[in-house]
Amino acid sequence: MAGSKLKGTKDSFYDHWVREVERVPSVEGLFVDDLRTVEVVPWPRKGGRGVYINLAGQRVSDAQICEIPPGGQQNPEKHIFEELIFVVQGRGATTVWNEGEPKLTFEWQEGSLFAIPLNSWHQHFNGSGSQPARYLAVTDAPIILNRFRNLDFVFGCDFLFRDRYTFSEDYFAASGQEYSDAILKTNFVPDVMTTPLVPSPRLSSHGFRRFHLSNGTMSAHIGELPPGQYRFGHRHGPGAHIIWLKGKGYDLTWETGTKNVHRIDWHSGTMTSPPEWWYHQHFNLGKEPALAVALHFNIRISQVEGDFLQFTRTSLKEIPFDKEDPELRAQYIREIEKVGVPFGMEETYRLDREVRADD
Ligand SMILES: [Fe+2]
Repeated sequence: MAGSKLKGTKDSFYDHWVREVERVPSVEGLFVDDLRTVEVVPWPRKGGRGVYINLAGQRVSDAQICEIPPGGQQNPEKHIFEELIFVVQGRGATTVWNEGEPKLTFEWQEGSLFAIPLNSWHQHFNGSGSQPARYLAVTDAPIILNRFRNLDFVFGCDFLFRDRYTFSEDYFAASGQEYSDAILKTNFVPDVMTTPLVPSPRLSSHGFRRFHLSNGTMSAHIGELPPGQYRFGHRHGPGAHIIWLKGKGYDLTWETGTKNVHRIDWHSGTMTSPPEWWYHQHFNLGKEPALAVALHFNIRISQVEGDFLQFTRTSLKEIPFDKEDPELRAQYIREIEKVGVPFGMEETYRLDREVRADD
């Protein structure tokens, strides 16, 4: 992105692979304005069209937009990097299988969320004869490709991770098991827009829900931002991709130790990825709650231990509300006044004060 100094080398094995082997362009910067309209080009290896998205100068996780033409399909593939999939537009089906096991096919639609089980064969099909289908994949390919630097191993390994997947007719049935901390362990979310949320204990009237998919180490969550509210400034490790599904607003983000604040205006379809350890804040400018889905590398769920699923964050640091830059808050109040939405943060400030008093 012009004006921002995003760290990260473009000389890694992964970068070379994208540029010289895949020969598919890579979109860079701090955000993509609309995943539905980002330009896609023919992608011979995968089939259909697509584009890589490498935001925030990080080489931990990447994203891809893939478009399958009406009545078309992609080529089958398998790989030892994880892959989360969120359907941006259209409807279709995916077939998943392990060598020597029956094939399993399930259907998806706009808003569906799932993960490809590690190293399982998979193939995606468009279910419409007249409309393209478009999905977003978020993967940890950069870390895996840069670790092994061997395409035959990454895309041709015969090991079956049976702890992740073995044929079972209801593997992608939209069922799940609830764990503490709003975690739903499931392998298929039919529509994130209609998934029931649970109230956040810390943020007034924010609803959220976390997903542990296909027993992976990457994960996803959805979060709601009520009108007149913003999320406290915070920073963490790299690799989160945030897709706005409903509403409108803006993010502010700045490199720690600088006052160079970047503003990103978002709406339904915008994707952002906060750079490693940069502070960022989400502000709702709409009259309705805004809703986002986040596909993460940086917030992992460890293995199930007994009936307890543990979330581990690489690290997260939040700015308490009484240490915020008063000008950023004043700016937000001026903006919501213009759209006629009352400022709604008092209850969240009170909860935050209470939580910190308990610590
Ligand atoms: Fe964040």
